Amino acid sequence: MKPAPQTYHVKSFGCQMNVYDGERMAELMAAQGMTPAADAAGADLVVLNTCHIRERATEKVYSDIGRIRKDAGKQGRVPMIAIAGCVAQAEGAEIVARAKVDVVVGPQAYHNLPALVAQAVVGEAALDTDMPLASKFGKLPARRKVGPSAFLTVQEGCDKFCTYCVVPYTRGAEISRPFAAIVDEAKALVDAGAREITLLGQNVNAWDDDGRGLHDLIRTLDRIEGLARIRYTTSHPNDMRQGLIDAHGDVESLMPFLHLPVQSGSTRILKAMNRSHGRDDYLRLMDRVRAVRPDIALSGDFIVGFPGETEADFADTLSLVDAMGYAQAFSFKYSPRPGTPAATMTDEVPEAVMDERLQRLQAALGRDQQAFNRASVGRTCTVLVERRGKLPGQMLGKSPWLQSVHLMGDHAIGDLVEVELAAAGPLSMTGVARMPVAA
Ligand code: SAH
Ligand code: SF4
Ligand code: F3S
Repeated sequence: MKPAPQTYHVKSFGCQMNVYDGERMAELMAAQGMTPAADAAGADLVVLNTCHIRERATEKVYSDIGRIRKDAGKQGRVPMIAIAGCVAQAEGAEIVARAKVDVVVGPQAYHNLPALVAQAVVGEAALDTDMPLASKFGKLPARRKVGPSAFLTVQEGCDKFCTYCVVPYTRGAEISRPFAAIVDEAKALVDAGAREITLLGQNVNAWDDDGRGLHDLIRTLDRIEGLARIRYTTSHPNDMRQGLIDAHGDVESLMPFLHLPVQSGSTRILKAMNRSHGRDDYLRLMDRVRAVRPDIALSGDFIVGFPGETEADFADTLSLVDAMGYAQAFSFKYSPRPGTPAATMTDEVPEAVMDERLQRLQAALGRDQQAFNRASVGRTCTVLVERRGKLPGQMLGKSPWLQSVHLMGDHAIGDLVEVELAAAGPLSMTGVARMPVAA
C-alpha cells in the first residue's frame, strides 16, 4: 500500500495533440479532488506525457524520471510516476522493467488513469495500452477554465504509414470524433474563456463524419458566438479537399495560416517515404490555396537525411523551399524508429552530412521567415493577447499569420487588439495598438 496521491503534475513532451491529452489528464486528476503542484519534484503524482517521434524524445523520458526522483528525494519524497503518451504506447513493458515506474497508460486509454493510480496505490501492476473501440472522449470530465487559445482534438490516428513514422503504431488507425461532440466541446471551451480554437488531428483534414468534412465543421464553429478565430493542424496534402481550400477564401474566422508538411522536395525520396504525393502535386496544391487566400502564411515540416537522400535530392528540397517562401517551418534530422520500414533501410546518410544539410535548410527557412515578417510590416491586423511579455507593460499575442507579436499597453489576456505591425524581428513582430475590436 502506498499513500494515495493528493497533488499532481503533468508534463507534456510532444505535439499539440499530446499537449491536449496532458490538459485532459490534468482535468481528470482535478476531478478526483487532487490539486496541481507547482513543479514535478513537489508532486505526489508525476505524469510524464511522452513523445516517441524521434530518438532523443525517448531518452529524455528516462533522464527526466531520474531527475524527478533525485529532486524529490532531496525533499524526502518518493513520487508516484505515471508514463503516458506515445512512448508508453510503444514501450510500455520496457519502461516498467527499465525505470520501475508505477503506471503506464497509452494515448487511447488515459481516461483510465484514475483507476490505474488506484491500482498502483494497492501495489498492483498498472499498465493500460489498449486501443478500445469506444473512444475515451465521452469518459473525460468537462473542460475547466482555459486560456484564450485552446486546443480541441477532433481526429486521431493515422493510416498513412509514412515509412519513417511511429504515429500509426502509437496512435492507431484514423478515427474522427462525432460532429456534435466537437461542437459541444467548442462551445464549452468558449464558455471557459477561449477566443481561438485550434482543431487538432494527426491528419486533421481527413476528419469526416458521415460525409461531412473539416470545412463543414469549420463553417459550423464559425457561427459560435464569442469564438473569434479558428485554426487547424496538422494536415496531409492528400486530404486537402477543395471544400477546405474554399473555406480559406470566405470564412472570416478561419485564420490565414496553413501548416502542410511536405518532408522533402525530391519526388524520389517522397516515394521512398511512402508520402503518396510528389513534389509537383504539393506545389500545385499550394498554388490553389494561394489563389483563394493570397496572404496565407504557409508552414511545413522537413526531414533531412532520409536513407538514400543524395545531394541532388537535398537540392530539390532547397529549391522547393525557395519556391514556397514559408512563413515558418520545422525541420528535423531523420531518426530511425524501431518497427518502422525505414529503420531497416541500409543506405544511411552519415550524421555529419545530415548536420550540414539541416544547417543549410534551417538557414534558408530562417531567411524566408524573416522575409515574411519584414513583408508584414505596415499591415494592420488583430492580435489575440495570450500572455504577459518579459518587459513591464508588455503583452504577447499572435497575429492571424501566427506570428508572435509584442505590444505595449493596458491590454488584458484574451483581448483582440487591432494593431499595426510596426517592426519585424527574425522570430517575432512588434505591434502598435490602434483601437480595441468589438467582440
Ligand atoms: N501527421 C503529421 C505530422 C506527424 S509528426 C504529418 O504527417 O505531417 C511531426 C513531424 O515529425 C513530421 O511531419 C516529420 O517531419 C517529423 N518526423 C516524423 N517521424 C520522424 C522521424 N522518424 N525522424 C525525423 N523526423 C520525423
Ligand atoms: Fe506520420 Fe505520415 Fe501519418 Fe504524418 S501522415 S502521422 S508523418 S505516418
Ligand atoms: Fe509525439 Fe505521439 Fe505526437 S509520437 S508527435 S506525441 S502523436
